[in-house]
Amino acid sequence: MSTVIVTGCAGFIGSHLCDRLLASGHEVIGLDAMTGNYPRWMKRRNLGSAAGHPKFHFMEVNLCADQLEELVRGADVVFHLAALPGVRSSWGPSFADYLGSNVLATQRLLEAVKSLDAARRPTVVYASSSSVYGDMEGPLAEDAPTYPRSPYGVSKLAAEQLCRVYASEFGIQAVSLRYFTVFGPRQRPDMAVHRFIRAALCGQPVTVYGDGEQTRDFTYVGDVVDANLAAAESGRAGDVFNIGGGNRASVNDLLTTIEAVCCVTLQRQIWPAQPGDVQRTYADVEQAAERLAFRPRVGLAEGVERQVADMRRLYGRQS
Ligand SMILES: NC(=O)c1ccc[n+]([C@@H]2O[C@H](COP(=O)([O-])OP(=O)(O)OC[C@H]3O[C@@H](n4cnc5c(N)ncnc54)[C@H](O)[C@@H]3O)[C@@H](O)[C@H]2O)c1
Repeated sequence: MSTVIVTGCAGFIGSHLCDRLLASGHEVIGLDAMTGNYPRWMKRRNLGSAAGHPKFHFMEVNLCADQLEELVRGADVVFHLAALPGVRSSWGPSFADYLGSNVLATQRLLEAVKSLDAARRPTVVYASSSSVYGDMEGPLAEDAPTYPRSPYGVSKLAAEQLCRVYASEFGIQAVSLRYFTVFGPRQRPDMAVHRFIRAALCGQPVTVYGDGEQTRDFTYVGDVVDANLAAAESGRAGDVFNIGGGNRASVNDLLTTIEAVCCVTLQRQIWPAQPGDVQRTYADVEQAAERLAFRPRVGLAEGVERQVADMRRLYGRQS
């Protein structure tokens, strides 16, 4: 790798990936449409350290509409993280935006890569999601059936399938990584860890959907970055890997961890479970361990501590 593209560079995970790539000496072209899924100032903040770097080139580009062929020319790798995330908001009329940012954007990017001479095509590393599995007993290996439970999950699976067919029909070096609940500094404000920590820092109650016994395989953002770099080096066309942190915990466990780190007691407001929310996610990461030497390094408590420190700065709170 030397010249790389990161789509969704101003987002939570994409911005961490940019920082790491820049620290390793790569030329990074960051593409982002700065969509309104959360405030623009937060996305600018995410890009804070990359923005001033001489090897970082930001372009405000909408993958659904703008010309992409010239952009991908000359790149060694395209890390494709741009998407509209979020399970609960994917029902109803907003699905058109999910189709655009998750499915059409991926197809246009793959077409742009395909338009290049075969020898000059970049590797594509696609950010897929555990939501492609739906609600299944785990640990789940990559060949487990896919039964997404939300329109978001359907859109992520559709884009993953696009990567697969462009790999099989045109030999495009497209690799999909199924991330499991990513957390850490800069986490999106709609995500549970962020909402709970914000409540803890601001002395507000938390909203818990369901009985809080639903479990997630929490994955620290730095470990997801490691997986992306390894996939760019060692992934093969059509590969799919689970990327889970091995921090399996319930929402109630997560709340207890946040209470301990922030030294507060959180008041819980219990709401009904939401359509599309699954009861459990649990990754089998053996393939990623074997082929990508993927070893998640950051545990839940340590990652929460780092996220709390970042969010104290974000919201200007010292306590
Ligand atoms: N955060 C998680 O736990 C998680 C889990 C599984 C998969 N993922 C996937 O990882 C990726 C990154 O997620 P995130 O949490 O960092 O989200 P994010 O919203 O913080 O980042 C996504 C970025 O993509 C940009 N974007 C959206 N549509 C675009 C378009 N049409 N053209 C250009 N840019 C566009 C947005 O402006 C945003 O900055 C997504 O593909 C998401 O589906 C995330």
